[in-house]
Amino acid sequence: MAYMKDSGNGVRGSVTRTGAVATAGEAANVNEVTDNSQPLLEIKNLHVHYGQVHALKGIDLEVRAGEIVTLLGANGAGKSTTIMAIMGLLKPTSGSIMFAGESITGMEAHAISRKGIGLSPEGRRVLGSLTVRENLLLGGYARKDRKAVDHDLERWLSVFPRLGDRVQQMAWTLSGGEQQMLAIARALMGKPRLLLLDEPSLGMAPLIIESMRETIRAISEQEQMTVLLVEQNVDLALRLATRGYVLALGQIVYSGLRSELRNSEAVQTAYLGEASQS
Ligand SMILES: Nc1ncnc2c1ncn2[C@@H]1O[C@H](COP(=O)(O)OP(=O)(O)O)[C@@H](O)[C@H]1O
Ligand SMILES: [Mg+2]
Repeated sequence: MAYMKDSGNGVRGSVTRTGAVATAGEAANVNEVTDNSQPLLEIKNLHVHYGQVHALKGIDLEVRAGEIVTLLGANGAGKSTTIMAIMGLLKPTSGSIMFAGESITGMEAHAISRKGIGLSPEGRRVLGSLTVRENLLLGGYARKDRKAVDHDLERWLSVFPRLGDRVQQMAWTLSGGEQQMLAIARALMGKPRLLLLDEPSLGMAPLIIESMRETIRAISEQEQMTVLLVEQNVDLALRLATRGYVLALGQIVYSGLRSELRNSEAVQTAYLGEASQS
């Protein structure tokens, strides 16, 4: 099974399932989609405040192993807040976040990252004055098995050939699309079981978005990676995710399968709501 063609920022080469578990000795991905399994991520009645601002007003959300689930919503709905709370970058006021059957509510970000959650943050946040290689190594800093880290570094550089070609370049010299790929690859370097992607398509040209869609799909399928994808690009999100949630003003106003979301008034309203505000 090969990753798709190299289309601009795309991926080429192939990563086999065997390749995916070649770094034995560390936690293996055992992400099988089974309906009655415990969710990999389970959020219950989550509230988050920024001072007086009540940004999340009791949201419930779950992601099962192997799924790509999308979180949709207009600007300011609370999508990044949700992602940052999962990652431990914001402390919830109340509610619970369970990961792999264990509470991670209120844990520090580095501990959550060690549990197996990786984040590609909104705005990419790559370190411009470090090289591509250094950025990637930062993503794997918490892992103890250095050989496995080196192996994964080479693997991701071959999966993202544009990064492979620029491994000694400072990250600031990369295009926006390349920086996004770097942010995703950096998150993957932590060997996560759950990948959080916060608006990966933001500010990108259609061709690059297309290429990124194929990359995310390939990673999900071939690494059996579980993904929570935040997007304002509904078309992209619903081509990748099998189901999703719609956030509006800090509350989940709709959830459903891809087909339901495509025809959902909640989705339209969420985005029309944004259009009428701006
Ligand atoms: N650092 C902050 N301080 C105060 N309010 C914030 C802060 N960050 C976000 N907010 C508010 O929280 C709400 C949700 O923001 P955010 O999660 O960034 O939305 P989204 O990612 O869906 O665009 C918005 O009303 C936003 O203004
Ligand atoms: Mg956001």
